[in-house]
Amino acid sequence: MKSSVRILGIESSCDETAAAIVADGREILSNVVASQVDVHRKYGGVVPELASREHLRQIVPVVREALERANVSLREADAIAVTQGPGLVGSLLVGVTYGKTLALSLEKPLIPVNHLEGHVHAVFLEARAMGREPALPAACLVVSGGHTVLYEVGGQPGAAAVFQYRRIGQTRDDAAGEAYDKVAKLLALGYPGGPVIDQLAGQNGTKVGSPLQFGPTKMKGNPFDFSFSGIKTAVLYYLREHPELREQIQIRQAALDRGERKADQLRPLCSEQTLALLTSFQNAVVRDLVERTIKAAQEVNAASILVSGGVAANSELRRTFDRRANEIGLKVFFPSRALSTDNAAMIAAAAYPKFLAGVRADATLNAEAALPLA
Ligand code: KG4
Ligand code: ZN
Repeated sequence: MKSSVRILGIESSCDETAAAIVADGREILSNVVASQVDVHRKYGGVVPELASREHLRQIVPVVREALERANVSLREADAIAVTQGPGLVGSLLVGVTYGKTLALSLEKPLIPVNHLEGHVHAVFLEARAMGREPALPAACLVVSGGHTVLYEVGGQPGAAAVFQYRRIGQTRDDAAGEAYDKVAKLLALGYPGGPVIDQLAGQNGTKVGSPLQFGPTKMKGNPFDFSFSGIKTAVLYYLREHPELREQIQIRQAALDRGERKADQLRPLCSEQTLALLTSFQNAVVRDLVERTIKAAQEVNAASILVSGGVAANSELRRTFDRRANEIGLKVFFPSRALSTDNAAMIAAAAYPKFLAGVRADATLNAEAALPLA
């Protein structure tokens, strides 16, 4: 029997230290993620200097745990895959340096992976496990706290296939997840903002209407580019014009300071007007993400739609994509919530076709903060 190729993936591009073992680009043997969210929470965003320090603290135990859970020794791993970029350079350097050291000392192949390609592979990895390989070419939206970018993904289907990528559009300012986090900060809803807004929005809006009259963002130039700074500013202006919401914000901040961060704890501290504001914010973001992706899919004659990254966990985004993709006769694929956010299983999966194709990095491999995928 042919033995499988087991790749150790290492991911440290932002604020999660992650390691995973994936066999043959399709079977997750372990997937360990150490989140730094508690460290960054009080700043309402990732503090790069603190992130690098946390990665340094976590990287060795996280890799060890991934190996133990998979019951694979370092010697048994066939290759070491590491995120080269894009991301925070200090964070990336921890993973790159550690991966390089392991590979050189154990004389294993070292495979550099683009973080965004990892997010694309997160979708394939799980779809494959369920026997539903997405048809290519696909329109793929990667939407997280750091990225909002649309790709056309082409190539042959299968875990061994090397894909080709073409960038169709990207955000010109904030990433969609960043807009969620900034709006949550303005309204004292905690960090990260996406999951809480997801649970609070959509529960109201009928009585108060839509506070933000925000139509589709008009873009000059590439119609598939995104912009989310306008919608964030619209929320800021709304709060300036509605001083009656300020007292509630202070009350919620006090609750957050006491550690009451759950949506169920914050909901009673939100007026109908606040919930309606969140609903209109979320509707505007979701509509923009979905409609541009659907148009792009039609433009490139895509055979399927893929959505990945932290914001892909959003329930309204999933519902709207399912409905709209169905209307145009396409299937839309999302990873599970665990694989939507940053993880190393997606890095190990993306490395598998590269391993087969002989892609190798040497000791000169460096972290690249702005590494493009296409
Ligand atoms: O992929 P990820 O873990 O890290 C980055 O590469 O950024 O994504 C984190 C981002 C945060 O901005 C967070 O607020 C957002 O994803 N997010 C969500 C949801 N869950 C996480 N945004 C909207 N709805 C969600 N359910
Ligand atoms: Zn990411």
